[in-house]
Amino acid sequence: MSLRLGDIAPNFTAQTSIGEIDFYEYLGDGWGVLFSHPADYTPVCTTELGKTAALQGEFEKRNVKVLALSVDGLDRHAGWINDINETQQVNVGFPIIADQDKSIANAYGMIHPNASETFTVRSLFVIGPDKKVKLMITYPASTGRNFVEVLRVIDSLQLTANYSVATPADWKEGEDVIVVPAVSTEDAIKKFPKGVNVVKPYLRYTPQPNK
Ligand code: BEZ
Repeated sequence: MSLRLGDIAPNFTAQTSIGEIDFYEYLGDGWGVLFSHPADYTPVCTTELGKTAALQGEFEKRNVKVLALSVDGLDRHAGWINDINETQQVNVGFPIIADQDKSIANAYGMIHPNASETFTVRSLFVIGPDKKVKLMITYPASTGRNFVEVLRVIDSLQLTANYSVATPADWKEGEDVIVVPAVSTEDAIKKFPKGVNVVKPYLRYTPQPNK
């Protein structure tokens, strides 16, 4: 059975480009992003890991640790990291897991046999401080992911966790958010002192609470 939202993300120990890691220990009580790519020394993956490295400060600001994974070994990771740093003008500091026996890829359902028997697809999981899976996305090998969108989703998840609000379609940082249905309008008015705009009894907006 593959992982689903709300499931506990399996723990593992792994060899990585920064040494051996116990996943849960590495995350501590913060958030995590675990993402797979098909293979080292491939063009789309090179840009994805470069973009992630460029956004490292944004992930840190949100208390998010990032880990990449492929089924290549540590030697290939080391040489490829040099290429990423050179071509994308970054400094890859996050760990890249060498999952040569595919145990982590299998636990997370990162191998989709009808796409490729051997390589992981572009899976990405956001894991909350409770170690539960909060987001899963799967892209094909030929499409690089949008890591700014990943940050946007993390912002939304953290707003929900901290303030009981949801975010509307295409929401961006600073825009109004939605009061979740579980909160009554009466309680929302008390909870959100910046005001509640009741468009319909079920559609209520409030300014972003942490702005
Ligand atoms: C890439 O990362 O560029 C890639 C990997 C596998 C298939 C197609 C593209």
